[in-house]
Amino acid sequence: MTLRHLLADDDLSPVDQRAVLERALALKADPFSDRCLEGPRTVSILFDKPTLRTQVSFVGAVAQLGGFPMVVDGRLAGVGERESVADVARVLGPQSAAVVWRTYGQDRLEEMATHAGVPVVNALTDDYHPCQVLADLLTVLEHRGTTEGLALAYVGDGANNMAHSYLLGCATAGMHVRIGTPTSHQPRPDILARAERIAARQGGSVAVTDDPVAAVTGVDVVATDTWVSMGQESESGTRRGASSPFEPFRVTEELMAHAGDDAAFLHCLPAYRGHEVEASVIDGPRSLVWHESENRLHAQKALLSWLLEQHRMGDR
Ligand code: NVA
Repeated sequence: MTLRHLLADDDLSPVDQRAVLERALALKADPFSDRCLEGPRTVSILFDKPTLRTQVSFVGAVAQLGGFPMVVDGRLAGVGERESVADVARVLGPQSAAVVWRTYGQDRLEEMATHAGVPVVNALTDDYHPCQVLADLLTVLEHRGTTEGLALAYVGDGANNMAHSYLLGCATAGMHVRIGTPTSHQPRPDILARAERIAARQGGSVAVTDDPVAAVTGVDVVATDTWVSMGQESESGTRRGASSPFEPFRVTEELMAHAGDDAAFLHCLPAYRGHEVEASVIDGPRSLVWHESENRLHAQKALLSWLLEQHRMGDR
């Protein structure tokens, strides 16, 4: 049995990631052609943090694959409090084809994967948001026909889950990744080192700078994210106030003018106009955010289908 998970972006090799993205393109063109969850088989989808896109897209994905999406409020279930993560995994695993979880610590997700016995998918942790970056790569692939050799700049909080997932996921896709972030919010060094190793093998590169203009100059894609991630609400005064270290990293039309001529704008949403992005950018002609949001559905369908196929193939 080949049990594969998506806990962090680099759980997918370049070949795996390409296979998932190609499957996503095929499923987008022919949405009901894959019924791998026919039965219907249950996919357990747990949320310890707020959600909109992730819930809608995973529920839709499982339903369109012929399965039954069982959404569990992780706070109500008390995962890790009312009962241990390992015991929750032992309950869910035998009744589920896969487990999808949005939670806080990466260690919680890893514990789930250790004990569930079925594929476990990271639907966002404090450290990574790999499903979002798959959707972003799908959007880039559709828009530009390739990901290899393209440059993406992420400006904003360089220490958050999106920054880490862009580093790993885009390096895997053969891209040049630049993170523009204040020195106070640098990516985690071990994640940066992993991304550098992948980029060196894939012909891409990774760079971190505290100069937002240097980050975006000439790039094909500019991306940002909220300055206050879920779980950081108590810091919102310092992260969004006039003395916020992120102020110079707002994506404005002026900043976008330094990017390449047809540079696209991406944002995982929810967006806070006037903070990390100017309204005229996210609502303007270079913004692909609504395609990006829809692509969560297609990317996650492909991911689930691919993970289940690896599991089945391992049985042969
Ligand atoms: N960095 C954000 C991403 C939201 C999809 C957060 O963790 O809240």
